Amino acid sequence: MVEPSFLSATRDAYDADAARYAEFVSGQLEEHPLDRAMLVAFAELVRATGAGPVADLGCGPGYVTAYLCSLGLTAFGVDLSPEMIALARQAYPALRFDVGSMTALELEDGALGGVLARYSIIHTPPE
Ligand SMILES: C[S@@+](CC[C@H](N)C(=O)[O-])C[C@H]1O[C@@H](n2cnc3c(N)ncnc32)[C@H](O)[C@@H]1O
Repeated sequence: MVEPSFLSATRDAYDADAARYAEFVSGQLEEHPLDRAMLVAFAELVRATGAGPVADLGCGPGYVTAYLCSLGLTAFGVDLSPEMIALARQAYPALRFDVGSMTALELEDGALGGVLARYSIIHTPPE
C-alpha cells in the first residue's frame, strides 16, 4: 500500500528537526504543573480501569512516556519519526519505543488500557 503523503511529510519534518525539538521540550514538564496534573489525572483514570498498558502515540523524544512510567503506568511510545525514536531510546533505554504510525498500529483490539496523543494528532487530516 502506498503511504499517504501527510505521513511521509510529517516524518521527514520531524526527522530533520528531532534534536532541536528534544532540546526545546527538555525540562518542559517540570516547568508546567498543569500539564503534569493532567497526566496524573490521566494515569489515575487508566489505573481505575485496571486495564492494560498505555500507548503514547506520537511520543517524540519520549519524556512524556517516561513521566507516565514514573507514575506507575506501563507505557510505551510510538512515533513516526525514526530520529525521534532514536532520541527516546537513548534518553530512556529501559523503556519501549517503537517506530510506527498511529494510523496503523499492530495491536489487538482491547490490548491497551489507554492512549495518549499529546500534540501529535495535529498532523493527521481531520477525515
Ligand atoms: C509536536 S510533537 C509532540 C511530541 C510529544 N508527544 C510531546 O508531547 O512533546 C508531534 C510528534 O508526533 C509524531 N507523529 C505525527 N504523526 C504521527 C503518526 N501518524 N503516528 C505516530 N507519530 C506521529 C511526530 O513524529 C512528532 O514526534
